[in-house]
Amino acid sequence: MIIAIDGPSASGKSTLGRLLARALKLQYIDTGSMYRAVALAVIEAHVDPNDADAVTMLANQIEIDLEGDPDSLCVLLDGRDVTEQIRTDTVTEMSSIVSVIPGVRRAMVERQREMGRRGAVLNGRDIGTVVFPDADVKFFLTAAAEERAERRYIEDHMTASSSATLAETLYDLVERDRRDSTRADSPLKVADDAIVIDSTGKSIEEVFEEMMKNVHRNH
Ligand code: DC
Repeated sequence: MIIAIDGPSASGKSTLGRLLARALKLQYIDTGSMYRAVALAVIEAHVDPNDADAVTMLANQIEIDLEGDPDSLCVLLDGRDVTEQIRTDTVTEMSSIVSVIPGVRRAMVERQREMGRRGAVLNGRDIGTVVFPDADVKFFLTAAAEERAERRYIEDHMTASSSATLAETLYDLVERDRRDSTRADSPLKVADDAIVIDSTGKSIEEVFEEMMKNVHRNH
């Protein structure tokens, strides 16, 4: 079974993706962390992010592995654990820039199809539209930008991965969503057959129940 979860930043994709994967005993694949690993590789290799050919070449060379169970997913870049490093503001910003490049997307989509072919919960921006258009169940999670920014702000301050103010977090999030939704290749959009869930004002448990009901209804 393939379950696709797409949606804008901080819409709850990873929290709910993990919960669904655990409940359904499926592998959990966070595709955003793969674009983040490419971004980190670009920064470390001092590659110009505007040089699409150089970034694509790097994306094809690096090894990205997602290890562990849904609750403790480790992201490995060429065998090195970069789970925490890929969550900094600089990498977040760079991941949105490199993910616009078609060659980078091709390299990641190919790996995602291979990783998920035996069944998985995958989250990202283009899972239901491009990576697995025949997914068994497709969700599009969304929430008001202010609420998403607040969630991200709390999370960032708990993990000390950012020192941005709430207003800065909101600004960056809206800007990133704009870039992710307006790019030419595989923009963030709702698949025709996706179940749209707006989690504004809802608890994680409520959204989880709603998603599980839909999984059972469709299976
Ligand atoms: O989900 P995330 O915030 O960790 O994703 C980081 C960036 O990667 C985000 O700005 C958009 C991009 N991304 C993408 O283009 N396609 C995906 N399937 C997942 C993420």
